Amino acid sequence: MNVGDRHYRTIWLSDDGRSVEIIDQRWLPHEFRIEKLGTVAGIATAIRDMWVRGAPLIGVTAAYGVAMQMAHDPSDEALDSVWETLHETRPTAINLRWALDEMRRFLRPLPAGQRAAAAYRRASEIADEDVGLNRAIGENGLAIIKDIAARKQPGEPVNILTHCNAGWLATVDYGTATSPIYLAVEAGIPVHVYVDETRPRNQGAQLTAWEMAGHGVPHTLIVDNAGGHLMQRGAIDMVIVGTDRTTADGDVCNKIGTYLKALAAADNDVPFYVALPSPTIDWTVGDGLAEIPIEERSGDEVSLVWGKTAKGEIAQVRVSPEATPARNPAFDVTPARLVTGLITERGIAKASREGLKAMFPERA
Ligand code: MRU
Repeated sequence: MNVGDRHYRTIWLSDDGRSVEIIDQRWLPHEFRIEKLGTVAGIATAIRDMWVRGAPLIGVTAAYGVAMQMAHDPSDEALDSVWETLHETRPTAINLRWALDEMRRFLRPLPAGQRAAAAYRRASEIADEDVGLNRAIGENGLAIIKDIAARKQPGEPVNILTHCNAGWLATVDYGTATSPIYLAVEAGIPVHVYVDETRPRNQGAQLTAWEMAGHGVPHTLIVDNAGGHLMQRGAIDMVIVGTDRTTADGDVCNKIGTYLKALAAADNDVPFYVALPSPTIDWTVGDGLAEIPIEERSGDEVSLVWGKTAKGEIAQVRVSPEATPARNPAFDVTPARLVTGLITERGIAKASREGLKAMFPERA
């Protein structure tokens, strides 16, 4: 997507052909900083400490990390060890494991001398594929927005609630949940987005709001707890969120607080959609609640909040007593029964084993 008048992806290969450049998301919306990463250790830190984040982008970043390892040491042992090192950076988003598995599957049969060049090529292909998947998700989701718009008065916006950031910053480009929104704006359909701030890391307030503002999408920031109230008053026409892992039974794991939005949506007959590319489906897991590992991050993320001071410094402030412990589960699971539909690159699937099998029969 464009920042100013320049088109950016969230990750790209540097001119040296060996490092990658990323948008360092820790500083947004206050500063737009680009970082260069050239080592596996740097890639691991960037994923763990959320310089890059969002399930699809985590996967692509890890794929480039494998390529960096292959440039340094293309042995089988190094391939296995980079898989382990990067896999343990963040436990919930399945795209990380998907990308690492795909790189290993692709590289293993090759002679060691060919692995580095092939790994960079395959990582770049995975990045390009992500863009294509998200564009297709956008087109499929656009049909839903068009349907809702058709039932409104001319010029009346479709009000969409979103949680966290499933935007272009969370992917390589377009985003998943935001892709239909961007395409709707391009098509001239009036939309308005309610952006959940998404405590504790505020991906909504800091990233989604920045994206919406940058792309001229009418939007309003709300606190995480306002969604139910707005739904009760008919202010929300639909919810679209992303996901870090969706099970073969259609359970949806996403940023903490998604489940509460789904409950409120069900109680108020508001359609609740989840946008996802197929690498986000974990075909090995059925019951999301029982089987998906939920990342527990530092309690400091709850107690200390990043912001920009009146003097223009980016700094943390404490919002709770020093002695108060904080717990920080980063994701939750929304049971399939609360999901209206899964917006995939192939179409809208029912959130159920049958629905996903019908959409992806080769996985059945
Ligand atoms: O902890 P984060 O910021 O990586 O969490 C991101 C989300 O929960 C997104 O909604 C999800 O990865 C889908 S991104 C297209």
